[in-house]
Amino acid sequence: MNTPMTVAEALRQASSAGLPRAEAHYLLQAVLACSRSWLIAHDTDALTPEQQQRFEHWLTQRLDDVPLAYLVGEKEFFGLTLQVTPDTLIPRPDTEVLVHWALERMEGLTAPRVLDLGTGSGAIALALASRRSDAVIHMVDASAGALAVASANARRLGLKVQAHLGSWFEPLAGQARFDLIVSNPPYVAGNDHHLRALRHEPRSALTPEGNGLSDLGHLTQHAPDWLSPGGWLLLEHGWDQADAVASLLQERGFGDVSLRHDLGGQPRASGGRWAG
Ligand SMILES: C[S@@+](CC[C@H](N)C(=O)[O-])C[C@H]1O[C@@H](n2cnc3c(N)ncnc32)[C@H](O)[C@@H]1O
Repeated sequence: MNTPMTVAEALRQASSAGLPRAEAHYLLQAVLACSRSWLIAHDTDALTPEQQQRFEHWLTQRLDDVPLAYLVGEKEFFGLTLQVTPDTLIPRPDTEVLVHWALERMEGLTAPRVLDLGTGSGAIALALASRRSDAVIHMVDASAGALAVASANARRLGLKVQAHLGSWFEPLAGQARFDLIVSNPPYVAGNDHHLRALRHEPRSALTPEGNGLSDLGHLTQHAPDWLSPGGWLLLEHGWDQADAVASLLQERGFGDVSLRHDLGGQPRASGGRWAG
């Protein structure tokens, strides 16, 4: 039988395979369910065969660009630990811009009705629910796998949201109008070279194909049928789509059309108010 591998040897193996040190630490911490300081203090401890096998499997997958979040099965978003699977997009910090903006729009409203379209892991809906327990929040996704993860996240976090499976507004028949509609829809252009690096995430979550604007256009077109007078539509989009989304909103008759930038200073979300 082979000699068991120690913590230090596992880290050395990862390093010589080309994995950045911080990532190797992160994966090994997840394998051993330990803190960073424990790892450093116990670098001569041996891994069990199961731990070694899992670490080596994750190392191979990571070197094939599988995101860390899929390997460990979770991602932090807006202070919440969300479970993620290959059915869900991994929530991005940039999307927190949309959450902050949505919370601003909910200020002053009692029990606001809010809709998150294309909820994925539930990131936006659950972030809003975690800050506004009085809000009535609905989330929609066309992927049954993603919606199951979002619903499980809601249950685990003890947050109240209503889930609907289907395409955009279709599964909402019979629901009342909303004070706020938020969405981070697929918006990457179908020929964008970044899609290659993102190949482990569901393509249908990333791109509507074509120039990337079709879902943003669909949501802008149909949101007025679902907004209460004075309600807002807030949309995340690509850094180079702000002008196109502003035109879509203005042409549809939205007022107060405005733009928010992400932490990197890039145009990231646009929205407008439906006067009714
Ligand atoms: C960019 S991801 C956003 C996920 C999540 N809201 C977030 O910010 O992390 C887009 C989501 O839209 C969903 N989606 C794509 N087409 C859809 C459609 N026609 N109707 C409803 N959801 C759709 C995808 O399944 C995916 O979960």
